[in-house]
Amino acid sequence: MCGIVGYIGGKEALPVLLNGLKRLEYRGYDSAGIALFGPAGLTVHKSKGRIRELEEKISAEKLPGMVGIGHTRWATHGEPSDINSHPQTDAEGRVAVVHNGIIENYGRLKEWLISKGLIFKSETDTEVVANLINFYYKDDILSAVREAVKRLEGSYALGIIAAGESDRIIAVRRESPLVVGLGKGENLIASDVPALLEYTREVYYLEDGEIAVLYRDHAEVYNGEGQAIEKEVSLIQWDAAAAEKGGFEHFMLKEIHEQPRALTDTLRARIRTNTDGASINLEEIGFNESWTRENSGRVVITACGTAWHAGVIGKYAFEHYAGIPVDVDTASEFRYRNPVFDPKDIFIVISQSGETADTLAAMRLAKQGGARIIAITNVVGSTLAREADLVMYTWAGPEIAVASTKAFTTQLACLYLIALKFGVLRGRIQKADMAKYIEALEAIPAQAETILSGKTNIQRFASLQFNKNKVFFMGRLFDYAACLESALKLKEISYAHSEAFAAGEIKHGPIALVDTSTLIVALCTQSSLFDKMESSITQVKARGAAVAVITWEDCKRFDRIADEVFRIPKTEDGFSPILSVIPAQLFAYYCSVLRGLDPDKPRNLAKSVTVE
Ligand code: AGP
Ligand code: GLU
Repeated sequence: MCGIVGYIGGKEALPVLLNGLKRLEYRGYDSAGIALFGPAGLTVHKSKGRIRELEEKISAEKLPGMVGIGHTRWATHGEPSDINSHPQTDAEGRVAVVHNGIIENYGRLKEWLISKGLIFKSETDTEVVANLINFYYKDDILSAVREAVKRLEGSYALGIIAAGESDRIIAVRRESPLVVGLGKGENLIASDVPALLEYTREVYYLEDGEIAVLYRDHAEVYNGEGQAIEKEVSLIQWDAAAAEKGGFEHFMLKEIHEQPRALTDTLRARIRTNTDGASINLEEIGFNESWTRENSGRVVITACGTAWHAGVIGKYAFEHYAGIPVDVDTASEFRYRNPVFDPKDIFIVISQSGETADTLAAMRLAKQGGARIIAITNVVGSTLAREADLVMYTWAGPEIAVASTKAFTTQLACLYLIALKFGVLRGRIQKADMAKYIEALEAIPAQAETILSGKTNIQRFASLQFNKNKVFFMGRLFDYAACLESALKLKEISYAHSEAFAAGEIKHGPIALVDTSTLIVALCTQSSLFDKMESSITQVKARGAAVAVITWEDCKRFDRIADEVFRIPKTEDGFSPILSVIPAQLFAYYCSVLRGLDPDKPRNLAKSVTVE
């Protein structure tokens, strides 16, 4: 995720670009840059860090020009650095590109371009795009862009300017957002409307495959076949604050809704399908298959909070799919309990921010013990990413709300991919099963979307239950692990006392707490244990609790005993937490709002806990 802006008109472009970028900083903030057409031709200025650091860097220079593009980055390929910042240019400096998204075949394209004699300076996938466009650029940038995008796989929104064509900006998108702002004597592009609102409220929303060409006094749009099309002008009604949240009331709700997109990015680039069938490819993280052969026979996972919950699910996944025993522990405990290591242990550390103090300390301890470290993190260039042996990024984009949502489900996606890969390498998963698992993973983003489209059901349920102060989540196996995260979400942002219990443990103590004021949410997706869940539900019902069940869409057996049933699309039983947590996230969100709280900024909590 990142923020793109572009301006062509009668004003000085620089302040318009910087202004727009500041409005988009919520989409990415590890580096920023601009490219301008001025008297000196096409110039590029960029800097690691936030937009104010770019401003400081260029403050002494006069940068006139009425055409330009800008970018605020959330790195996916290559750490945040001046060189990796956008705009990226081709080797000859003729084409400048800003990009939001991931070019999945960038490795192959890069090799091909290198074989043509081109030299690369950054680690980004975007530089490949700039060079590819220049490869086709003779005297018409529009046809060069058309040729280049035919060869791109993955997601992109691109803003492009080219030397020799200072009268236009080209914009094209596939699966990443891009909006064209239509002004008077000026036109703009942006990843999102907040960057446009100061200049216009009339926009075109570009669709996948469409190319827009912006001139000072008009804008043309072409479809994927190159035919000019008439776009409908949309009028933006939102105010600037609402627009920043994409029209959602809070960042948390927006981020919950971003999960289908985030899951697609995180999963798709690691799944390969060819004539041989579907497989998981972890080359991109530098994974060496000898690690599994030489492995001590144990995986250790450590993390904090939500990331630790992902780790608990990871444990079940590694054991179930790869047959490897897993120790999982919160980093704050792990670091103080004199853990025993084998240098051939594989140690997985999970952290959205990559900066959590306890998690870093646990990783360093494991490193000293000689373990091999795989980090799963959302922040490219974070301390965790720098210090781990291997890094698998969750491509969730910046998570602003304190309560983690899309970071969690994308962490799960990474863990499933690694567990399945280990399963294949250890001979536990055969080809036909792998095809089935990959098919199930690939369906998950659309299934998440289906759950989100039914959110009013959850909202209605929350309106009846939001005042409950005792809410227990219970389940077995993968469901129990998902309950841990569901309970944390609710307590973090609604302050209701919520806990997670392994359903079989209820009768060993927690049932003493159950009375008519209790709401029990039972996660029931482990088909082999439905009978057991039914018994646990009956036990708490008998003590007067209200019971809501989250189960598969085709499962009717709990209708009879539950007060409320929420159905989710069917996936592999082991993958269920990635879907079953979404109703729980929504429930927590609505309870918080109904209690008059701010779900984005819960009391006493910080987004990144960099102290003990
Ligand atoms: C999640 O909703 C929390 N706010 C918190 O538990 C968080 O997951 C934890 O602090 C770990 O953060 P990290 O993933 O950035 O390491
Ligand atoms: N993949 C590009 C990069 O890493 C763009 C990332 C983004 O969307 O900010 O530079």
